[in-house]
Amino acid sequence: MTYSVAVSGASGYAGGEILRLLAGHPDIEIRTVTAHSNAGQPLIQHQPHLRSLAHLTLQDTTPEILAGHDIVFLALPHGQSGQYTDALEDVPLVIDAGADHRLTSRDSWDAFYGGDFHEPWAYGVPELLVNGGKQRDALRTATRIAAPGCNASTVSLSLTPGVAAGVIDPSDIVAVLAVGPSGAGKSLKTNLLASEILGSANPYAVGGTHRHIPEIQQALRVAGADDVRISFTPVLVPMARGILATSTAPIVDGVSDAEIRAAWENAYGDETFVHLLPEGQFPRTADVIGANTALIGLAIDRAAGRVTVVTAVDNLVKGTAGAAIQSMNLALGLPEDRALSLNGVAP
Ligand SMILES: NC(=O)c1ccc[n+]([C@@H]2O[C@H](COP(=O)([O-])OP(=O)(O)OC[C@H]3O[C@@H](n4cnc5c(N)ncnc54)[C@H](OP(=O)(O)O)[C@@H]3O)[C@@H](O)[C@H]2O)c1
Repeated sequence: MTYSVAVSGASGYAGGEILRLLAGHPDIEIRTVTAHSNAGQPLIQHQPHLRSLAHLTLQDTTPEILAGHDIVFLALPHGQSGQYTDALEDVPLVIDAGADHRLTSRDSWDAFYGGDFHEPWAYGVPELLVNGGKQRDALRTATRIAAPGCNASTVSLSLTPGVAAGVIDPSDIVAVLAVGPSGAGKSLKTNLLASEILGSANPYAVGGTHRHIPEIQQALRVAGADDVRISFTPVLVPMARGILATSTAPIVDGVSDAEIRAAWENAYGDETFVHLLPEGQFPRTADVIGANTALIGLAIDRAAGRVTVVTAVDNLVKGTAGAAIQSMNLALGLPEDRALSLNGVAP
């Protein structure tokens, strides 16, 4: 069977990456692409790397144009998806790359986003530990999927094994992330100009204001944490794509080094796309660019009494489009890794 697909936000970074991956998916026909200010223009004008989709024209993003497909991807600025999702009742599978359906707590939505709150959908990170199982079990029966925030899923994948195994204390987490500017989207912003970024590392959303904080707290609670407190600081660095997240948390008293490492080995030992590196090795973003892969390095810092987890992902693949398509594969009953690469593009 071939599934017909519409991708909204197709002129943007997330929409473009969804299209790049779907173009190599044998079970998918990309029928419709939509945008906003660029509607009416050829897709290739905005995504010149997507040569095989040169025949497509960006249409307006309306419920009528998105309806009538087997699968709809929403890759719109946060706050925009809700108006379409209500009108897409008859579409069998809808996947939102935005934040509108990620949070279960209305209070968190109000505090960090504001505007209308929409119901939470199945969270699109299959490898996450949840209530003694994995999130992929929920995705197998899902018809509505919320793909993750890229920074949020990187930190959640880093720490949920230690939380679920009870070897780290989630009430004192510190996460500092080096992030590429594509995470902020394609629209013009002064702080994202090359002249502001090249040759500089620029912190932003410092001091507990970043919107991905409640998403991380939610994932760690689902993994078994009661009290989650996190100091979260992203730093823009001059690389187009990629996240390198360094997350630390206190080691629970009496836990051995072997028990700590076993928590991550047990969580990810059988996973295709999430790899714990051998002891003493730490990942680089260069190794995951273009790949649906999360590489994790783990250090046990006894002097500091903390575990240090360094994780590298491509924000546009494992952090968004790859997670969305991996989740789609699960929901359709297809091989989970279809159209997704384990290998990065390097150097
Ligand atoms: N970038 C990432 O690494 C990343 C990671 C995880 C999740 N996400 C999420 O993915 C979503 C899209 O992000 P992005 O980085 O792709 O942003 P982007 O590059 O700025 O693209 C935004 C897209 O949405 C369209 N759009 C803008 N306003 C719209 C409206 N009012 N109605 C309908 N369409 C509208 C734009 O169309 P025009 O160009 O025609 O105006 C464009 O196609 C966001 O919710 C973001 O949080 C992104």
